[in-house]
Amino acid sequence: MKKKIKIAIDSPAAAGAGTQAKLIAKNYNLFYLDTGKIYRFIAYEKIKNKKNFNYRFIKKKIKNLKIKKLQNKKLLSNKVATEASVIAQDIKIRKIVHSFQSKCAYFPPKKFNGSILDGRDIASVIVKDATIKFFITASIRIRALRRFKELKTLKRKITYAEVLKSIKKRDKNDYERKYSPLKRTKDSILINTTNLTKRSCFLKIKKIIDKKLKLDGNL
Ligand code: C5P
Repeated sequence: MKKKIKIAIDSPAAAGAGTQAKLIAKNYNLFYLDTGKIYRFIAYEKIKNKKNFNYRFIKKKIKNLKIKKLQNKKLLSNKVATEASVIAQDIKIRKIVHSFQSKCAYFPPKKFNGSILDGRDIASVIVKDATIKFFITASIRIRALRRFKELKTLKRKITYAEVLKSIKKRDKNDYERKYSPLKRTKDSILINTTNLTKRSCFLKIKKIIDKKLKLDGNL
């Protein structure tokens, strides 16, 4: 790879974007950042430290944030996810998180060929000049089913109906919020994963990326 590449992925909750982003990162040796985890991290801190929770507190937490902290399994709960979609509506919080994300996208560690970020506003706000942009989606029922199965493997006590309800709520929060709402930008390639296996979806995306990199003389 000659030039550093930047891949931007946006998607509604549980559409399979994270799974695909990890596969792409591995295949092209890209630094991967799941930006939703940052909002989940802040939400988790809010639930834990109700009293101390303010902008100064968040700034400090993000300044000292290590990627490893984002791997905390507690961030995966439904309660944290819903709270994340609430705090993510706050423009001040989004601004605090912005610089952390830009650093990962534009200055990934040297050993990588570039970066890949997934979230809600990556193509529209964080990496507007990405080499390639994707909008990954799937039907609400299949997204709820996938998330339900995932939570079951984590031994969480939750029903399918509860998961469906919470995904609907998050969709509403994410699509309808005032700042950086989830949307497909004109230059994002739409991938619908409803009827695709993980593998077939990855192969479809890989084909598109390879074509673009060849066109750019970057492969
Ligand atoms: O992707 P994930 O489901 O982990 O994201 C949790 C929440 O964080 C989302 O529902 C959304 O409200 C928020 N988020 C965001 N912008 C991003 C990534 C996530 O607002 N770039």
